[in-house]
Amino acid sequence: MIKASDFGPDFSWGVATAAAQIEGAADTYGKGPSIWDTFSLRSGKIKKGHTPAIACDFYHQYKTDIALVKLLGFSVFRFSISWPRILPYGEGLVNEEGIRFYHEVIDECLRQGITPYITLYHWDLPEALEAEGGWTAFGINSAFNAFVHICAKTYGDKVKNWIVLNEPFGFTSLGYMLGIHAPGKTGLTNFFSAVHHAAIAQADGGRILRAEVSNANIGTSFSCCEVIPYTQSESDLLAAQRVDCLMNRLFIEPTLGMGYPGTDWEVMEKFSIQHSTWRHTERLSFDFDFIGIQNYFPLTIKYNAFIPVIQAWEVKAKSRKVPYTAMGWEINGNGLYQILKQFAAYSKIKSIVITENGAAFADKITDGAVHDPERIAYFQEYLAAVLKAKNEGLNISGYMAWTLMDNFEWAEGFNARFGLVHNDFKTQTRTIKDSGYWWQQFLTC
Ligand code: BGC
Repeated sequence: MIKASDFGPDFSWGVATAAAQIEGAADTYGKGPSIWDTFSLRSGKIKKGHTPAIACDFYHQYKTDIALVKLLGFSVFRFSISWPRILPYGEGLVNEEGIRFYHEVIDECLRQGITPYITLYHWDLPEALEAEGGWTAFGINSAFNAFVHICAKTYGDKVKNWIVLNEPFGFTSLGYMLGIHAPGKTGLTNFFSAVHHAAIAQADGGRILRAEVSNANIGTSFSCCEVIPYTQSESDLLAAQRVDCLMNRLFIEPTLGMGYPGTDWEVMEKFSIQHSTWRHTERLSFDFDFIGIQNYFPLTIKYNAFIPVIQAWEVKAKSRKVPYTAMGWEINGNGLYQILKQFAAYSKIKSIVITENGAAFADKITDGAVHDPERIAYFQEYLAAVLKAKNEGLNISGYMAWTLMDNFEWAEGFNARFGLVHNDFKTQTRTIKDSGYWWQQFLTC
């Protein structure tokens, strides 16, 4: 049985959250609407019509929630700053109540001996900026930079650990290509312009933090997964290569000064060549102190001529008869091990932190308790994979579990439960799950 001490005394252990998923108070205390507030009301694409309006009411319960972080034994709390809570119109007017709120959250962490990690963008773009094109618009970069400046100057004395973007591939693909997340846009043109602006934002954000925050530990986070070809046929191998290029290489490579990845795939080649001047390469790169890896499952990929552009198809875990979570995601710790190795092979990455990893299961309270053995087994398997990679010499310096409590899981609404703590969304009652107690035992014994 692995122990937390096997990871060494300097390894940091945290739990991660995001503003739009937990805060609530979506249209009060001076906050402007985010794209998730409007998308959830208008698109009809969120299960059961759920909205983030109240979510976990963290806005009012942050003190007891931070106490839970501590009780479970974590020493790091990752949360994000809601851009429209600070800048209700995206730029210009600053909402002082919003500024005060995050001061209180940070102060409460510090009072309780918890180290705050701030994510600057976890998907809740101000609606006012989306009205001007959002991430597809040229102006997004100056607006984002102004927001980063404000946060860095305001909180930089107290907070040293920063994550610029949460999963740029996640929000650009789901929100600007497939239209299943806010703001619901589709198409390759939208996608590629959102990608380019997000990649610039990531590097610019790093530079601003470096200039404004002394002794900062600056990272950014990527969704990534091992991509496994379904067979060894040439068409499956090439399909897997295209998916790997999009999902795993698209953002890390320009960040490391390598430019966008070019492959045999003409779509990517064209985009990559368009942005390959030295000015692009310079602006897209930043020397991050750590890279955040967010991994949940590996992907098995098969060639499919009927899928436009990418011509690749995911062969779901269910049809392959392998274990999967309530999201249908394959449970396989080796996938995390493989992706850690893939990223560690980039020699310019200084350090890796697993900034999200976890699982949704359909847990229910019975007799005042939540028994979630599958989630405990999931964490044990994935942590063993992290330890294996670490023991092989990979520079992995921390791990954050996703997530503190059941929350607003984007297009899944409140149906997908990822928390270590159960939340009753009617009463906002928190109940620590068996997995939460497992973490407590793991971290404190
Ligand atoms: C996101 C989280 C999300 C989690 C589970 C990650 O991609 O950063 O916000 O809740 O996955 O879907």
